[in-house]
Amino acid sequence: MCFELARLIGNRLGPHLRVIDEVHGFKSFDERDLLGFVDGTENPEGVEATEAVLIEDDEDPAFAGGSYLIVQKYSHDLDAWNALTVEQQEAAFGRTKLEDVEFADEDKAPDSHLTLNVIEDEDGEELQIMRFNMPFGRVGAGEFGTFYIAYARTPAVTEEMLENMFLGKSGAAHDRILDFSTAHTGSLFFVPSLDFLDDPSVGASAEDGAAPEPPAPADGSLGIGDLRS
Ligand code: HEM
Repeated sequence: MCFELARLIGNRLGPHLRVIDEVHGFKSFDERDLLGFVDGTENPEGVEATEAVLIEDDEDPAFAGGSYLIVQKYSHDLDAWNALTVEQQEAAFGRTKLEDVEFADEDKAPDSHLTLNVIEDEDGEELQIMRFNMPFGRVGAGEFGTFYIAYARTPAVTEEMLENMFLGKSGAAHDRILDFSTAHTGSLFFVPSLDFLDDPSVGASAEDGAAPEPPAPADGSLGIGDLRS
């Protein structure tokens, strides 16, 4: 489906499109990342997932039902990672590798991926996001990586996790997995709801009856994304 979508968008944009990077991800065994660990286990489910991901009416009525998406392309140094023992790899994540069981808090290293990514608000409630990481690679080229893909109701939650990972926290200089995984890109997208795409004035009416004004396309642009046309 993604391939077809990319093909259709490519056809529509024709010569105005310049592809600078094309990566086809895949699902790996047991939903494992190429570092060998099950990825996505602690994602919220049901109502918790909806609360974590969707912008609520009273937060931002014009954009309610939408979400914020952060995407980063990481490459892995698999040779260095696989030179670690399984115990060292498990310490980097704070989970067991085969059984995918979380370490007790007192057994987690300060720089483990889980120590730095389990965050709470001022009331002690865990702040959650939905992750849909996708492995990619080219065996012949020795290229291995993960597309980190995460939705959240506000980018602030993902940003706090990124700060912890890259700038460290409470005795950790940075996330241990960053010694083996390098981020090459980072992009934040707003993902509108289907209702918003259908009629952008619907969400806005809750506030002041006016549709959010999209920016006017620059001269000569295709006006793609111009919701007034
Ligand atoms: C190379 C990139 C990354 C890899 C391979 C990776 C892999 C993993 C794995 C294997 C887990 C444990 C199982 C689970 O999904 O619950 C995990 C947990 C998690 N990761 Fe990542 N991750 C990456 C980047 C990130 C980034 C950039 C963030 C945030 C900005 C993040 C946030 C989280 C969170 C919130 C959890 C769940 C913590 C919990 O509630 O236990 N990860 N990740």
